[in-house]
Amino acid sequence: MNTIHPSIDAMNQLIAAYTVASQNARFCHWNVVGPHFEDDHELFGELYTELSDEIDLFAERIRALRGFPMSRLSELLAATTLQEYTLPMTARNMQKNILADYEYISEEMNTMIETTADDAVTQDIIVGSKRQIDKRSWMLRSLLWE
Ligand SMILES: [Fe+2]
Repeated sequence: MNTIHPSIDAMNQLIAAYTVASQNARFCHWNVVGPHFEDDHELFGELYTELSDEIDLFAERIRALRGFPMSRLSELLAATTLQEYTLPMTARNMQKNILADYEYISEEMNTMIETTADDAVTQDIIVGSKRQIDKRSWMLRSLLWE
């Protein structure tokens, strides 16, 4: 059984999803307005940095597996169902939308953890990234609590 292709597929899927999610966080970092501007601006900036740093990890794992990562924006946009944000958007809706992006990624990762069961190294990358995605989801849900 070829164990490489499910790993490359999973990593490419994550590059696509994280590229859109990180740009969405950056969109919020730049465009958020409102009474909690400072906190929101800072949080969205942190999320952007966290997500974009992870993308390199996925791409380099693909290279280690002798594959080539999906790298063109047009291909990445086509490869994920995550959507780019548009204005106007309230600060609260930005938080809600980012939480939805994170929950989508977390759900996708459940499947990837199964499909990469024969490749512990790639699976470990997904598990490590999912730990952070789930932690941030918890924080965003807490922020949105009413
Ligand atoms: Fe900034």
